[in-house]
Amino acid sequence: MISNRIRNKKLLDKVCTAKEAAMLIKDGMTIGTSGFTPSGYPKAVPLALAELAKERNEKIKINLYTGASVGDELDGVLARAGLISKRLPYQTNESLRESTNNGCCEFLDMHLSHVPHYAKLGFLGKIDIAIVEAVAITKDGNIIPSTSVGAAPTYVQMADKVIVEINTSQPLELEGMADIYIPEKPPYTRPIPIVMPNDRIGTEYIPCDIDKIAAIVITDIEDNVRPLAPIDEISQKISENLINFLKSEVKNGRLTKELLPLQSGVGSVANAVLAGLEKSDFENLVCYTEVIQDSMLELLDSGKVLFASGTSITPSAEGLKKFKENINFYRDKIILRPQEISNHPEIIRRLGVIAINTAIEVDIYGNVNSTNIMGSRMMNGIGGSGDFTRNAYISIFTTPSTAKNGEISSIVPMVSHHDHTEHDVMVIITEQGVADLRGLSPKERAKAIIDNCAHPDFRPMLLDYFNRAKEGKYKHTPHILNEALSWHNRFIRKGTMKID
Ligand code: COA
Repeated sequence: MISNRIRNKKLLDKVCTAKEAAMLIKDGMTIGTSGFTPSGYPKAVPLALAELAKERNEKIKINLYTGASVGDELDGVLARAGLISKRLPYQTNESLRESTNNGCCEFLDMHLSHVPHYAKLGFLGKIDIAIVEAVAITKDGNIIPSTSVGAAPTYVQMADKVIVEINTSQPLELEGMADIYIPEKPPYTRPIPIVMPNDRIGTEYIPCDIDKIAAIVITDIEDNVRPLAPIDEISQKISENLINFLKSEVKNGRLTKELLPLQSGVGSVANAVLAGLEKSDFENLVCYTEVIQDSMLELLDSGKVLFASGTSITPSAEGLKKFKENINFYRDKIILRPQEISNHPEIIRRLGVIAINTAIEVDIYGNVNSTNIMGSRMMNGIGGSGDFTRNAYISIFTTPSTAKNGEISSIVPMVSHHDHTEHDVMVIITEQGVADLRGLSPKERAKAIIDNCAHPDFRPMLLDYFNRAKEGKYKHTPHILNEALSWHNRFIRKGTMKID
């Protein structure tokens, strides 16, 4: 059985316990791991590392670099043990979020396409050890990734040593789904030859120098995926608004019924919004995206979506079960690429991707905050939303018009943190309606956003702010600076953005 998974006999000597592998990790090291939005990340070695540190009463600190968010066995366990000194580029784990926000861990929130680029160019320092979850290792020592690719190919390339976790809970049929292409460094970078989302341009494995493999750990711990909230009325309405917007684009000759390759963001709202496509008239859709969530699998099931290119399979527990049970159906309909390819600006721009991401808040001029609650509290990170938004054919942000039981307006005078600027954001969609910002000046944008997207409870307050701001001396992007963030301030003081 294990010879299916470790195909070079010489490598059997490297098989060891998770604890023995964890002993290779020393204080101050930088560890680059596989894993992307709780899929395909190493589990046994980090669990053993935390145990080891506890047993020895050692307070070691490591820098932990991944593709994106990973499960509790990596982020949660190490954050709670206080072992992470610096973390990048994205996370969704509560314990890590807490240690980021209380200052115990330095978190670097990065565009996901930049991570391999930064690592290769040496901007992130030396990678000491790469830890990669795999379904198998080939005769030549190359690594067959599991449910995500992320930044693993670059970490393997850059690291001094590689630890491989062979995860037997990951089906061998995953072999063949990855397409690994690593661009050369400038000035030798060549155009990336993806012309259609289903083009294969690389290898099915992560190239790895066999002599770098320092340890192999066998495990069967499943991906600890995140539940998705049930689709509620508001998300359904947002989805309907999105579909009506896309229909009008077809009517106006800017899209056809096949649309253009779709990208859909992470989280419950994004999942719900995409699910609405099922009942739409669009057909033969393709996706050039980053994460493949439950609704994407359902669209593949029904044949609405023909093909999806991404970097990770990111379903809920039920979605993961379904994916594994029907893997032979999905195998030729999904390609998993390194994140620098799935999120590559050149490809996104050339394919004409329609990018649909979720905002935490949007301001009246179209700036978007996707990351920091009340300006300072990190939620997850920018993820791939910037990679797609900046380069999309149409960049769309969806958000419910209010949060926290209606006490917060998601449309505010000024965002408390900027992730996506007014220059990149084309369309805002809430359950209230659609603001198409293309070709509009700042004041025209403000009118469109307030009229179409704001909740009626906050619309008069927004209009009042905007009208008074316009009376000021400078008329281009009118603001009243000492009031612009007063809504956030009021929420922090009183638990509501509303005025008594
Ligand atoms: N002010 C304060 N809090 C807000 C808020 C606002 N305007 N809008 C949302 N929130 C809070 C919600 O109340 C919720 O808080 P809770 O966890 O305490 O319940 C939390 O933010 C998440 O909101 P939710 O409505 O559950 O949204 P989601 O699961 O769809 O996630 C994002 C939304 C923005 C956090 C998520 O999409 C994200 O991390 N995006 C950035 C990365 C990205 O877009 N990647 C995609 C590239 S492929």
